[in-house]
Amino acid sequence: MTLRYAQVVPALVLLLLGLIGILLLALSTSVIEKPPEYEYGIVLDAGSSHTSMYIYKWPSNKQNGTGIVTQHDECNVKGKGISGYAGVPGGAAKSLEECLQKAVQSIPKARHHKTPLYLGATAGMRLLEIVNTSESHRVLKEVGAKLKTYPFNFKGSTILSGQEEGAYGWVTVNYLLENFAKYGFVGRWLNPGKGTIGALDLGGASTQITFQTEVQTESPDTSMTLKLYGENYQLYTHSFLCYGQDQFLRKLLALLITTQGVSSGKVLHPCYPNGYVTSVNLEADVFSPCTEQYKPKNIDLKKDVTLQGTGNNQQCLSTVQKVFSFDKCNFSKCSFDGVYQPATSGKFMAFSAFYFSKSYVSALTNISDPRLMKMASQRVCNMSISQMTTITKQPEKYMKNVCAVSNFIHVLLTQGYGFNNSTLPMISFEKKAGGASVGWSLGYMLSLTSHLPQESVSVLKAIPSGPWTGLLILFSALLLMALVQLVLLCRKSKSKMDVI
Ligand SMILES: *[C@@H]1O[C@H](CO)[C@@H](O)[C@H](O)[C@H]1NC(C)=O
Ligand SMILES: *[C@@H]1O[C@H](CO)[C@@H](O)[C@H](O)[C@H]1NC(C)=O
Repeated sequence: MTLRYAQVVPALVLLLLGLIGILLLALSTSVIEKPPEYEYGIVLDAGSSHTSMYIYKWPSNKQNGTGIVTQHDECNVKGKGISGYAGVPGGAAKSLEECLQKAVQSIPKARHHKTPLYLGATAGMRLLEIVNTSESHRVLKEVGAKLKTYPFNFKGSTILSGQEEGAYGWVTVNYLLENFAKYGFVGRWLNPGKGTIGALDLGGASTQITFQTEVQTESPDTSMTLKLYGENYQLYTHSFLCYGQDQFLRKLLALLITTQGVSSGKVLHPCYPNGYVTSVNLEADVFSPCTEQYKPKNIDLKKDVTLQGTGNNQQCLSTVQKVFSFDKCNFSKCSFDGVYQPATSGKFMAFSAFYFSKSYVSALTNISDPRLMKMASQRVCNMSISQMTTITKQPEKYMKNVCAVSNFIHVLLTQGYGFNNSTLPMISFEKKAGGASVGWSLGYMLSLTSHLPQESVSVLKAIPSGPWTGLLILFSALLLMALVQLVLLCRKSKSKMDVI
């Protein structure tokens, strides 16, 4: 008997030691572990109609996983987009001050100098660059000089190409939905990658479509290959300049004005609510580089013209269709205006102005099924401006365009991109995903910082290392040894009993 106790006691002590050790470790990590320290990054999305600032953050000890970067804060710059300050020196820089001041307060001071700051401009500046290159460079230089005066790590102000804008939007969507394969180790069992979804972006001056496709491209300028987390993604992407919501509306107006003429000083607008009357200045509100093809000869552009709404959905739809060109195509398949596009595949997320238009139409008609978009447009086009502003509590300046934009989106998605009744339900209209605004800016920052590794991230890197892991292994070993010894002793005593 005494002999057996002498054998059991050391094993029990070992067991106790192991248990206490692991318990202490567990306690120490929960008590001592500091709240995670964050790093930050700022992107200014300088769009054609306005600028938005997004601040992102991520725990400083984790960098390369997907879904780790989140949105910390955002700010909408008041007033116009930076391209709207062409010919107004100082205007663009001044407009950004309020939001940058907010960033200074929102990000802990100790992190300021380590925080990368980017400004990316899109189609508004692309247009200005075409019309007046020197002025677009002056505006970019001016905002760059302004951004340098803040305590952040300024990384430059640039104009994104349409392709970049489309691809970064696609990266954002799929990063936020955690669609990229997370770990490339052990047959990628931790997150086998869910398959990607396409991105549909509608801005003020351009619209982008981007999706993964297996189809061999017929037009290299619409093709892009990204290597992310050890996986190759072949993308189709195209940006239609002048098919953003605002520029499209200008094209529509210019087409109506050119066909009807302005001699009477009045133009009927089939997409404006019946009875709605407003006036526009031809030079300031209608004609732009996007309307060149409709520019009427012998018209005084300084003129104001009265627009009178007729709320005629059929005429509105057929005028909207005339803005697109569906007939010429030098490839096996085109979306419109002779641009190559293979058949869309899989799910899509539609964001920015797609989301806002869809939410107005749903609020006005209670119809949210994208397959019923045509019927919804018809109902919206029959409403009066006061019905619309009463239901949505939105100002006339937005509501007067809902009928036109709704028809535009319908034609763009179906006749343009080729969505049909079986693929339309694959589009979800969103403003945010995973707590972050959906747009190109997150994908842009992820790509320019080291957050999107080309190679797969090994699962071994996911295990915390350092002294903590060493101690854990030591105590676990102690525990195991004690257990083995106890089991052996039990067996021995049992077999002795059997003999007796
Ligand atoms: C470009 O814009 C500047 C400032 O508004 C103006 O002075 C200049 O004449 C413009 N140049 C062209 C080619 O339009
Ligand atoms: C993330 O990846 C980059 C390059 O892909 C590498 O330099 C960096 O050390 C990685 N960071 C972590 C925390 O693994």
